[in-house]
Amino acid sequence: MAVRSAFDPKDMVFRHLGPTGLKVSVFSLGGWLTYGGTQKGNIVKEILQTAWENGINFFDTAETYANGQSEIEMGNALKELDWPRDEYVLSTKVFFGTGRKEPNTRGLSRKHVVEGLKSSLQRLQQPYVDIVFAHRPDYATPMKEIVEGFTQVIRNLNLAYYWGTSEWSATQITEATLIAEKYNLIAPVAEQPQYNAFHRERFEVEYAPLYKEYKYGTTIWSPLASGLLTGKYNDGIPEGSRLANHKDIFSNAVESLQKPEGQAKIEKVRKLSKIAERLGGNTSQLALAWAAKNENVSTVILGATKVEQLVDNVKALKLLEKLDDKTVQEIEEILDNKPAPPNTFGRSR
Ligand SMILES: NC(=O)c1ccc[n+]([C@@H]2O[C@H](COP(=O)([O-])OP(=O)(O)OC[C@H]3O[C@@H](n4cnc5c(N)ncnc54)[C@H](OP(=O)(O)O)[C@@H]3O)[C@@H](O)[C@H]2O)c1
Repeated sequence: MAVRSAFDPKDMVFRHLGPTGLKVSVFSLGGWLTYGGTQKGNIVKEILQTAWENGINFFDTAETYANGQSEIEMGNALKELDWPRDEYVLSTKVFFGTGRKEPNTRGLSRKHVVEGLKSSLQRLQQPYVDIVFAHRPDYATPMKEIVEGFTQVIRNLNLAYYWGTSEWSATQITEATLIAEKYNLIAPVAEQPQYNAFHRERFEVEYAPLYKEYKYGTTIWSPLASGLLTGKYNDGIPEGSRLANHKDIFSNAVESLQKPEGQAKIEKVRKLSKIAERLGGNTSQLALAWAAKNENVSTVILGATKVEQLVDNVKALKLLEKLDDKTVQEIEEILDNKPAPPNTFGRSR
């Protein structure tokens, strides 16, 4: 008799995480500023459940989010939801610690990679995560030690299956990969970079050789530029929104919205809305579909403070189907920010 699966993928699209055999839903869900931050308790469980019901199988957090509270809230929710562990993919990130100031409670020393991940797992109430990310490069730890640390948590301690990088340079990712090859260690498989219609250069240009050489995967963050690409900031900053709730983090973003450069972005958002409407969707969905359209994106990590936002955002799948080359070109003309490829001096192939 066939075993009944609790997970219904619905219309979700799944992609391999870079060169691995692991499949992640093209839209996933993360907990930065939301779970353990502004949102606690039942709402976290409700949003995760809604994600699951819409075919999302990948969830992301980090030791530093709300100083560990994000992992605690997401861990509680996952425990209560009790999905089969082999049906979902969970990631966390180490580097920034949880706000403690001791010299060894942050960074990518072998000690913090191992102990940081062990503490994350305790907060998450999980025996392992599927992917552990190095949340930033560590300029103070030798690259060989970093690669050894992540190899140890995977190969010796079974605390993770894969490791990845977040906001590392292409050079650093290449160095880690070559060290792994040379010393029979485990190489990282995916990067977690910022990528959205207003933030493109590193993802599209700097990382291009990594996609080609290593099939390097990407789990992209802030696909809606923290909400700017929803259109919610077109006429000011609504009460209860991210920019209103987190003035400390977003003071520059708020300031820039008053300036010509910010106004120009809002003007572009307004123009994108027209295309979205024509395709039968809204601005957020168009921005998310635009990101997912890039084949080098393994998964687009969504953020949501409300169930309705998630329900709304997952409908980007419908727009993804409708994004043909002509529409993408139309979007490019509005954005007018496509990064130039590197000069190959006539020797490209
Ligand atoms: N590796 C890294 O360094 C890094 C950095 C940042 C994020 N991340 C990861 O990426 C995930 C996603 O990033 P993000 O949260 O910045 O993504 P985002 O999509 O750019 O912003 C999400 C926020 O926009 C608002 N929003 C979303 N959908 C909406 C809708 N349909 N209508 C109106 N408002 C909507 C919500 O905020 P409000 O309701 O509060 O306005 C929501 O929390 C994070 O949770 C985290 O897992 C990683």
